[in-house]
Amino acid sequence: MKIMVCGKGGCGKSTFSVLLARAFQKRGNPVLLVDADESNFGIPHLMGIEPPQDLMASFGGKKGFKEKLNQKFPADGEGIFIRKQTIDELPGACVAASDGIRMVSIGKIHHFGEGCACPMGILAKKFLASLKTEKDGIVIVDSEAGVEHFGRGVIAEIDVILDIVDPTAESFLLAGKMGEMAEAAQKPAFFILNKVEPAIEAIMVRHLDQKRVIGTIPRDDVMFMASLEGRPIETSTGAVDAIAEVLAEQLL
Ligand SMILES: Nc1ncnc2c1ncn2[C@@H]1O[C@H](COP(=O)(O)OP(=O)(O)O)[C@@H](O)[C@H]1O
Ligand SMILES: [Mg+2]
Repeated sequence: MKIMVCGKGGCGKSTFSVLLARAFQKRGNPVLLVDADESNFGIPHLMGIEPPQDLMASFGGKKGFKEKLNQKFPADGEGIFIRKQTIDELPGACVAASDGIRMVSIGKIHHFGEGCACPMGILAKKFLASLKTEKDGIVIVDSEAGVEHFGRGVIAEIDVILDIVDPTAESFLLAGKMGEMAEAAQKPAFFILNKVEPAIEAIMVRHLDQKRVIGTIPRDDVMFMASLEGRPIETSTGAVDAIAEVLAEQLL
């Protein structure tokens, strides 16, 4: 199952992605976390690991990637994910691991003036399309803010979309848009309410397509402080474990 985690900037996508990865790992599912956000560098921090080499860099950066992409007859091993492969077949430097959770990063914006991020979208799509998942394997894709990956068509390679909704009008509007686009792409999409205080949960639900809401995560100061101090995620809530159970029941 390939899950894409979406939502507006700062709503809690990366935090949720790491917690969901842990929750599935605890259930015994093999988990791969894919960092597909070219503009943020926080996932390794949240996991308490050194960042792996990103896939784009392993192809020689955007320039090398474009050259390889345009090769008509790539030599064996040089094609860009032209055949199905497992995570074990990736270059070792591109895969980091922590507590049984593996992680890869598509690519990051590293340099001033390096050009647009479209090649990252192409690579994300090809990687996800070619990835052979293990039995009961879960791939969690942490995406960049907004709806760029819907426009790029990355969600074509995804089985389910999770939109993280924080208590802002902006998030409600984005949730509406994502619901529409998911329908057009014929993909299931669910909402997770995040940073929720008891008094506002009902207000949030009122602004959303209720049948898509599958979980609520309370505002959690333990998590917030760990993030503020740059420590790996800690949490005082089991809400994400419950969400993993719901997803496993509905989708596995
Ligand atoms: N449930 C929560 N309670 C308190 N703070 C949270 C919660 N979820 C996320 N945060 C905080 O919100 C901020 C943004 O989270 P992050 O996961 O980086 O968002 P995104 O990846 O969507 O940009 C971080 O400071 C994080 O600790
Ligand atoms: Mg993030």
